[in-house]
Amino acid sequence: MPDKYHKEEVYLRPLLKSDLQKMATWDQDEELGYFFGLDVDDSGSSYADRCAALLEKPNHRLWAIEVGEIGFIGEVELSQICWRAREAELKICIGDPAYRGRGFGTRALKLTLNIAFTRLKLERVYLRVYHYNTRALQCYLRCGFKKEAVLRNRRRFGGQNRDIYLMYIDCHSFNKERSNFTPIPSIDNRLVSSL
Ligand SMILES: CC(C)(COP(=O)(O)OP(=O)(O)OC[C@H]1O[C@@H](n2cnc3c(N)ncnc32)[C@H](O)[C@@H]1OP(=O)(O)O)[C@@H](O)C(=O)NCCC(=O)NCCS
Repeated sequence: MPDKYHKEEVYLRPLLKSDLQKMATWDQDEELGYFFGLDVDDSGSSYADRCAALLEKPNHRLWAIEVGEIGFIGEVELSQICWRAREAELKICIGDPAYRGRGFGTRALKLTLNIAFTRLKLERVYLRVYHYNTRALQCYLRCGFKKEAVLRNRRRFGGQNRDIYLMYIDCHSFNKERSNFTPIPSIDNRLVSSL
């Protein structure tokens, strides 16, 4: 049976300070801690605090993931942008668990990669993901990311060492893949002005 949300439009707009309050509620979700390894993050700051700090910095771009009539459901970012090497690290979070596994993450990622390679003219986007985050892995592979390396026993979560996959996509493979992508909807004007 088709998902009742499958026809909803997914789009990105710049993340605003006013979004942080809603994001603070995501910190209560244990699944997020598990997938982001928040218990090994010794900064003591919440997910929303972390995004608030990044909003002030020039080499990070953060967008709110908006879905049709549902509204703001998540955040996606290109962080540590290195303009000289033309690369950045991608992070994504669908904050409300009710909207995970419905295809929104995949659609938001494709929009982000389009911005990264077409507008920001980056050459390479990479990410790190825990080996057990199968939903995220599926989503990344479908968007064209490839596994580049396994960082073994690099971080501890829940008292155990965990492996992390380093994955990447470059602009050439993105351009090959994009013919399979659904058309990018019109971009929010505020997004264009933030690039
Ligand atoms: C990772 C994330 C962004 C993916 O977005 P999403 O909207 O949930 O993912 P999608 O629905 O687009 O795609 C998920 C894929 O995994 C599959 N999937 C869903 N739940 C799954 C599960 N529990 N185990 C394995 N696969 C699963 C889906 O079927 C889909 O694959 P398919 O379309 O080929 O069937 C989102 O789940 C999320 O924010 N998770 C919590 C935070 C997180 O893990 N961030 C990434 C850290 S690296």
